[in-house]
Amino acid sequence: MTGGAWTPRFDRGEGAREGEGVSLMPGEAVRAPVTDAFFRRVVEGMRCGVMTIDRDGLVVTVNDIARQILDLDGPVEPGRPVEEVLARHPRLAEVLRASLEMSHLPNRAEMEIRSREDDGRTIGFTVSTIPGDGGPEGIALFFKDLTQVERQEEQERLRDRLAALGQMTASLAHEIRNPLASIDVTATLLRRKLRDREEERRLVEKIAAEVARMSRTVTHALEFARAIRLERKPQSLAPLLDAAIEEALTRCGAEGVRVAREYDAEAPPVAVDANHLRQVFVNLLVNACEAMEGDGQVTVALRAVSRPGCSPGAVEVEIRDTGPGIEPEVLEKIFYPFVTTKQEGSGIGLALARKIVECHHGMIDVRSRPGEGASFLVRLPVGETSCGSEPGTGEA
Ligand SMILES: Nc1ncnc2c1ncn2[C@@H]1O[C@H](COP(=O)(O)OP(=O)(O)O)[C@@H](O)[C@H]1O
Ligand SMILES: [Mg+2]
Repeated sequence: MTGGAWTPRFDRGEGAREGEGVSLMPGEAVRAPVTDAFFRRVVEGMRCGVMTIDRDGLVVTVNDIARQILDLDGPVEPGRPVEEVLARHPRLAEVLRASLEMSHLPNRAEMEIRSREDDGRTIGFTVSTIPGDGGPEGIALFFKDLTQVERQEEQERLRDRLAALGQMTASLAHEIRNPLASIDVTATLLRRKLRDREEERRLVEKIAAEVARMSRTVTHALEFARAIRLERKPQSLAPLLDAAIEEALTRCGAEGVRVAREYDAEAPPVAVDANHLRQVFVNLLVNACEAMEGDGQVTVALRAVSRPGCSPGAVEVEIRDTGPGIEPEVLEKIFYPFVTTKQEGSGIGLALARKIVECHHGMIDVRSRPGEGASFLVRLPVGETSCGSEPGTGEA
C-alpha cells in the first residue's frame, strides 16, 4: 500500500491540467471544457455502482452507490489493493483481478453477495477495460443491486400463477360440490339403514366425515377464488388494527399472548375496504397466536413510509411475533393457497391476505428465520397517484 502521494496510473496524459479542456475522443473538437472534476461528478452521479482499479489491482474510484451496495465502511482511500477494499466480497475482487488478464470480458453477469446483515443480495455487473496507449490501463466495474428487481419479478410470476389457479379452482369446485352433496345424502340414508349394525355404521360415518372435510376445502377454495369487490373509504388504520387485534384474540382465546402496539401518529389515512383489510390483519394475528401456541408477544406497528421529496407515499403495518419462526421450505411458498403445516389448517389465510392487499395495490411480505419469530409486512399506498394527492375512494 502507498501513502498520500499515490496517483492513478491512468491520468489524462501529458499537458492536460485541471480546468483545461480535453477532447473526449482523439482528434474530436472540444465542445465544452472537460475537467477531472467533471469526470469525477459523472462517476459520482451515475445511478449504478462504479468501481475502477488500475493495472496493478489498486482501487482508483468507488462511487457512493457502490459503497452502499457493497456495504463498505466510509469513503475508500484510492490506492488500496482491491482484495483489501473488497475483503467482504472476495469473489468480486477475484473477478476484477482476473479481468486484468482476460482478453474477452464477460458481457453481463450476476453474482450473489453478502451484506453485513448477512441477507443475500444479487448484483448484476459488467466489467470493461479502460484502454490506454500501451495496453489496458485498468478495469471498470459497473453494477446494480438486482435484489428488488428479482423480488418484483417473483411477485409478478406469483400473481399470474394465482390468477390461473383461481379460475381453475372455481370451475373445479363447482364440479366437485354436486357429487359431494349426493355422496353426503346417500351416506346419511345408509347410516339410517344401518342403525343396528354398529361396525358398518361406523364405516359410513367415516365416509361422511371425509366428505365434510372435502366440502370445507372446496368452500375455502371458492372463498379464495371469488372476485373481491372493494368499497374503499379513507380512514386511519389504528382503529382498524385495534378491532382486528380484539377479534383475533377472541378467536384464539390466547390469554398468554401480549400485544404491543407501536402506532405512529403521523401515519396518514388510507383509502381501504375496512372489512377486507381487517380480515387480512386478523389472519396474520391468528397465525401469530397459533405459532406462539398462546404464549408470547405480538407487536403491531403502524408506520408512515415517505419517499424523498414526497409526503408519506405509503403506510406500513408490521405484525411481528416471538414464535418459532418459519422454515425456508414453507417460507418460499407461504402465500400460495393450501400451504399449511397445521393438522386442521386450510392454508388459505395468507393466500387470501395477499389477494386482498394486492387488490388495494399494496404489497405483503414476510421475514423470518427458524427460531427467531416471524414478521409480516403490509404496505399500502396512500393515494392513487404518487405524491400529495387526495386518496381515491370506491373501487369495483
Ligand atoms: N406467524 C407465523 N409463524 C410461523 N409460521 C407461520 C406464521 N404465519 C403463517 N405461518 C405458516 O404459514 C402457513 C400458512 O398460513 P395460512 O395461510 O394462514 O394457513 P393456515 O393458518 O390455515 O395453516 C401456516 O400453516 C404456518 O406454517
Ligand atoms: Mg392461518
